[in-house]
Amino acid sequence: TIEGVAASEPGARLRDAFVARGAVQCGFCTPGLMVQASHLIEREQARDETEIRRGIEGNLCRCTGYRKIIEAIAAAAADAATQGAGHGDR
Ligand code: FES
Repeated sequence: TIEGVAASEPGARLRDAFVARGAVQCGFCTPGLMVQASHLIEREQARDETEIRRGIEGNLCRCTGYRKIIEAIAAAAADAATQGAGHGDR
């Protein structure tokens, strides 16, 4: 759930990345995108733009055009990789 993601340290970094890059406009899609992004990052499936686009293809956003969302997820994934927050292919 978004509550579970928000309560975690990686989730907080993901939230901060969304805010810093303007990936939130109306916010309607944000909880679903953050849950999905958290899942992708945890499974190390957000290593590049292609993986991120594929990973969020079921999440619709009508405000941002996805560019800022993808940048935010990529930044959070890079941060997680340096923190060792990924859990491989479990
Ligand atoms: Fe409005 Fe995504 S920010 S639908």
